[in-house]
Amino acid sequence: MARCWVEVDLQRLDRNIQSLRDVLRPQTDIIFVVKANAYGHGAQAVAQRAAARGVRWFAVAYAEEALELRAVLPDVNILVIGVVQPDEVSALLEHRIIPIVADFEHGCALAAEAEKLGATLPVHVKIDTGMGRIGLPWQQAPELIIRLDAKEGLDIQGLCSHFAMVEKSEPQAAKMQADRFLAAVDNIQTHLGRQLFKHLSSSRAILYHAEWDLDGIRPGIVLYGYGTGDESMRAHTRPILQWKTRVIQVKSVPENFAVGYYSIYVTSRPTDIAVIACGYADGYLRALHKGGQVLIHGRRCPVVGAVSMNWIAVDLGPGSGVQRGDEAVLIGAQQKERVWANELAAICRTIPYEILVGIDAKIERRYVG
Ligand SMILES: Cc1ncc(COP(=O)(O)O)c(C=O)c1O
Repeated sequence: MARCWVEVDLQRLDRNIQSLRDVLRPQTDIIFVVKANAYGHGAQAVAQRAAARGVRWFAVAYAEEALELRAVLPDVNILVIGVVQPDEVSALLEHRIIPIVADFEHGCALAAEAEKLGATLPVHVKIDTGMGRIGLPWQQAPELIIRLDAKEGLDIQGLCSHFAMVEKSEPQAAKMQADRFLAAVDNIQTHLGRQLFKHLSSSRAILYHAEWDLDGIRPGIVLYGYGTGDESMRAHTRPILQWKTRVIQVKSVPENFAVGYYSIYVTSRPTDIAVIACGYADGYLRALHKGGQVLIHGRRCPVVGAVSMNWIAVDLGPGSGVQRGDEAVLIGAQQKERVWANELAAICRTIPYEILVGIDAKIERRYVG
């Protein structure tokens, strides 16, 4: 009873997927990014539901995440968008998992390993068009990819890139990356004499730029319900994750009562203080001691005192009527109030991604809908 839990609304996930599908051409595949345990939502359950709703592609960061998915989804396409190691090639082949090639030497190493195993490894090749991270430099990509394609051990099936930023205020940056990608793709396909599966856009690009949908898109955060606040975006989704816990103690205290480590909060009036079961060990960031609010009895209650490892205190106000065992919402909705991860992120000067993936993986995920 005294431990927090996460609730994931799978019907709302269905609706989020549908909102995106509604604006895509039928030939554009959704490659659902479910790395980092589906951004904290639970990769297997989320991917299983999405697959049941027709999503045929999933992307993860590591080979072991791919194997976890494969264990429950024997038929979907799984792409590893991180950098796999040559000693993982046999498992990738056995489980029909597609890695990306991160650079020329990486491609050579994967090819050599596949050849040693007497196999051909299907791959997508990543082109670095300006992100400055994983990928073959766009200027040399055509020449290098043509050389990689000659290797027995590789079957190049796709090409991809990733945007560093998609900002309305600076539209040129993304356009430059897209232009580089599309020019490289043209060149490569002409030389190879075949069409490849091309994917470029993650959430922000998807939401602003239909012209870059190509054969696949790689949405993550938008399907978890964040990042669609701007009315001019193509699709709108809603958060699917709620994070809840319970009140484990309530006490009525006088004015001038100090709460928590270093007594950084002192009451200014008689009030009720609740201790609730969640702390920074669970992923509730310490920065939330200033500005964080928790929903109890449908009201926003400020976090007071320092966030400690396993508990936080909130000020309920006088005569609250709150009792031990009552539900407290850290992220989510209660009656008419809502606290979503973007609100917590703004307080902590971070992004909702970090709040969501920061929820301790050991916390129980419950699936509804
Ligand atoms: C290569 C790549 N594609 C797609 C995504 C999904 O991004 P978003 O959650 O912003 O849609 C990520 C996320 O980190 C990524 O690294």
